[in-house]
Amino acid sequence: MIRAKIGGIGYYVPEKVVTNHDLMKVMDTSDEWIRERTGIQERRYAKKHEETTSTLGTKAAKIAIERAGITAKDVDFIIFATLSPDYYFPGSGVLLQRQMGMQGIGALDIRNQCSGFIYGLSIAEQFVGTGMYKNVLVVGAEMHSCGLDFSTRGRGVTVIFGDGAGAVVVQPSEDDSKGILSTHLHANGDYAEELAYINPGAHGGVHAEDKEQFGYPDQEFGGMFLTEKMIKDEDLFPNMNGQVVFKYAVTKFPEVIQEALDKNGYTANDLDMFVPHQANLRISQFVQRRLGLPDDKVWNNIQKYGNTTAASIPIALCEAWEAGAVKDGDLVCLAAFGSGFTWGSALIRW
Ligand code: ACO
Repeated sequence: MIRAKIGGIGYYVPEKVVTNHDLMKVMDTSDEWIRERTGIQERRYAKKHEETTSTLGTKAAKIAIERAGITAKDVDFIIFATLSPDYYFPGSGVLLQRQMGMQGIGALDIRNQCSGFIYGLSIAEQFVGTGMYKNVLVVGAEMHSCGLDFSTRGRGVTVIFGDGAGAVVVQPSEDDSKGILSTHLHANGDYAEELAYINPGAHGGVHAEDKEQFGYPDQEFGGMFLTEKMIKDEDLFPNMNGQVVFKYAVTKFPEVIQEALDKNGYTANDLDMFVPHQANLRISQFVQRRLGLPDDKVWNNIQKYGNTTAASIPIALCEAWEAGAVKDGDLVCLAAFGSGFTWGSALIRW
């Protein structure tokens, strides 16, 4: 296998800053509650009707491509991870492709939520590793602000999430000792509904024309996936069982990091930087303590951006790299946990 590396990285966050105090104007919450439970002070929201998940991703991708020393024409394949796509289908990968003038190459959409970037990175690593592609663009982007419940009912979820995008170009490494050393992917669908955006979905409705034909006379109907009942019940927002997520996350994060370290014969002491998915500052701090890492070896930026799901790792990694906290030769661990449940890690010699 050819060793794959991250050859270029970029991120973009929308200009609009939304503080905890801004949220207090629309729902019953407090700055103190949000900071204490999550560490978040503010997040960014994209401009509705002007920006979308794919346009945020395009901005991050352009920076990553330039830093990789290539042009958009050199990209061989696109991987786009998001849980908040522009359309139900097609995925945001082809929309980014159109915006960037890269028509013709393959575009794959990843639906692995907070672990989406790690899953995408792992796929890119395999494509580069086999020699099939030389420049794989991996994008993680989210526009959560379009799909959140801004009433008090939604406060447990809404205060946590923010918009943003990050991207990397995965290329063959010239030096076999440097690059992505290994990736590790896991999931447990038993917990699918514990952190989920259930509606609209194929589980719920019957299409109007199918009502008689398929003999569902008593069932309500709407569009293909969206039903009148979902709208009437305002049952169209994400839900999260926070305590279950917390408990599982603090078990699986350390496990999957240890798996990456063991695979490569390292211990946590060997790490120069740990970049966790920015789920919640309390989760990151718990994992940091378990690994025995000092503060300067963990990159947290959830305070400024909230949880940007598939975008959070590339945004944080890019910030760390731009700040000089990830340098040539450093051992860097990325790890994520999220809806599915899904979790994963990547160990990189930078
Ligand atoms: N502001 C004020 N009060 C709130 C808010 C809010 N934004 N949200 C919930 N509350 C209230 C609840 O209604 C409840 O009130 P009650 O006691 O009167 O019923 C009280 O606060 C406690 O609610 P809990 O849900 O029990 O709060 P908890 O201490 O569990 O904290 C939290 C919630 C922060 C979500 C926590 O469970 C957690 O950190 N879970 C991990 C989940 C997570 O980090 N998800 C990130 C996304 S998933 C991912 O990326 C992995």
